[in-house]
Amino acid sequence: MTESSPILQLVAVSKRYGAFAALAPTTLDVDTGATTVLIGPSGCGKTTLLRLMLGLIAPDAGQVLFRQAAITPANIRGLRRRMGYVVQDGGLFPHLTAAENVGLMARHLGWAAEKTNRRLHELGDLVRLPTATLARYPAEMSGGQKQRVGLMRALMLDPELLFLDEPLGALDPLVRAELQDDLATIFKTLAKSVVLVTHDLAEAAFFGQVIVLLQEGRIVQRGAIADLVRRPADPFVTRFVNAQRHFDIRAAGADA
Ligand SMILES: Nc1ncnc2c1ncn2[C@@H]1O[C@H](COP(=O)(O)OP(=O)(O)OP(=O)(O)O)[C@@H](O)[C@H]1O
Ligand SMILES: [Mg+2]
Repeated sequence: MTESSPILQLVAVSKRYGAFAALAPTTLDVDTGATTVLIGPSGCGKTTLLRLMLGLIAPDAGQVLFRQAAITPANIRGLRRRMGYVVQDGGLFPHLTAAENVGLMARHLGWAAEKTNRRLHELGDLVRLPTATLARYPAEMSGGQKQRVGLMRALMLDPELLFLDEPLGALDPLVRAELQDDLATIFKTLAKSVVLVTHDLAEAAFFGQVIVLLQEGRIVQRGAIADLVRRPADPFVTRFVNAQRHFDIRAAGADA
């Protein structure tokens, strides 16, 4: 289906917050060149799993491997530049313009202004953000525009692996559909490995070659959407699928 070895692997990774087990020991491969979708109810551990993959939080046990090499405190800074992250709720700095938000890491790395500008405009075209918007502050942008800027920021250093945490959560249905189409085109054009979080099954099916369903800090099932519908690993999978009323089960191949 995709390139040979997984770009990222979790091996028996677990995480507690005090006495609370946010993630039970979890083993998971992220396929190279594919979109993996993490889905599940609020609080099931999607963001925690994402931040463990990014090395932003350290696991209590287990290992995270990026291209077969264990992520360690010594190599995490370099590896982080090879991973882009669109934070849940945008995470743009309010006191910086769109262009300054996008160019933050490039500036930190000492890129020449001309190179940064070229990349800014290239990305602006890619995500279809009007040039004038680059000069604005987050408070002066719509939700959809802010998401596009967040995506530009995550793509600035041309990462090998892109993480998006509910990138379309707070948008109205029309803007959401438009951005879904744009994102799908961008993932395909750039042939990136992507991990995307959502709690919407229709969105998961739209994006994901591989869907990972979580419940209370555990992976309940990993597979294609048709597997979740036709071969549920657990009654919770069926409950979750049936609870998504607007999701078209037949379109997912359940009746094939
Ligand atoms: N820093 C923290 N300290 C204590 N508990 C935390 C912390 N971060 C997350 N949690 C808890 O861990 C659980 C998983 O949180 P997480 O943010 O991963 O959920 P999520 O699946 O991303 O939810 P949502 O869909 O609402 O974003 C939740 O019960 C949350 O309250
Ligand atoms: Mg979350």
